[in-house]
Amino acid sequence: MGRLAMAPVTPAIGAEVSGVDLGRPLDDETFGALRDAWMDRLVLFFRDQTLDPAALQRLGRRFGPLHVHPQGDVEGREGVLRIHADRDSKTYAGRRWHADVTCDAEPPLASILHMHRVPEAGGDTLFASMYAAYEALSGPMRRLLDGLEAAHASEHNYAGYHGTAPEETRDGGYPAAVHPVVARHPATGRKALYVNEIFTTHIVGLEPAESRSLLDFLYAHIGQPRFQCRFRWRPDSVAMWDNRAAQHMALFDYWPETRSGHRVTVRGERPRPV
Ligand code: SIN
Repeated sequence: MGRLAMAPVTPAIGAEVSGVDLGRPLDDETFGALRDAWMDRLVLFFRDQTLDPAALQRLGRRFGPLHVHPQGDVEGREGVLRIHADRDSKTYAGRRWHADVTCDAEPPLASILHMHRVPEAGGDTLFASMYAAYEALSGPMRRLLDGLEAAHASEHNYAGYHGTAPEETRDGGYPAAVHPVVARHPATGRKALYVNEIFTTHIVGLEPAESRSLLDFLYAHIGQPRFQCRFRWRPDSVAMWDNRAAQHMALFDYWPETRSGHRVTVRGERPRPV
């Protein structure tokens, strides 16, 4: 591989990285440069990376201990999750804006997705900066949100959409947690919106109609293209994203084709209030 190089994707988020082989152990200098770029851009994209599940697991562990998904491991490797959809799929992972597994009390800090089979067209993933979304709000709205907490749950997602029974989940049930609506990033100190369409059920202490209206407003706000970038996958592309300050959404516009990859997710800490 050549020299490490980075190119921003949009002003808000994302960088394409070249000159690194993620299939080999990363030396400290390369790891430090990737980590700095990742903190700045929230999601890094790589092309032409040959990664079997063992190499992906090793790469994830370079960033911290791996998170075990509530739906368990696949491929017989702890922390490796299969991301797959084909002509028989009734649903698929990441169909609405979200950060991964915010229903956990200590949600994952990072996810790394290696895609090995992609449709001829479509199946892109969209990413959005929750720093940019927060910073674009008015002062009075930011002050209101800064003091609020929201409930996050998973039964409606894992049981409702994915048909997973409690005994098939990691802890024999469905995780749920309460987190701040605006969280302070533990590494950068910046504030990020921390509610999402898949896991957040309501804002604590508000009337149901108030909570619904505020969440609907925030989801429409978060979904604006000015906070986003969009990644077109090729076989052996990798995306690595920060779940604390970015959200993502995967598109299933390629039926009846197949899209398949592996994801590892790195354990995080309880989101910090501002
Ligand atoms: C996910 O991790 O939410 C799925 C992302 C994708 O399939 O692009």
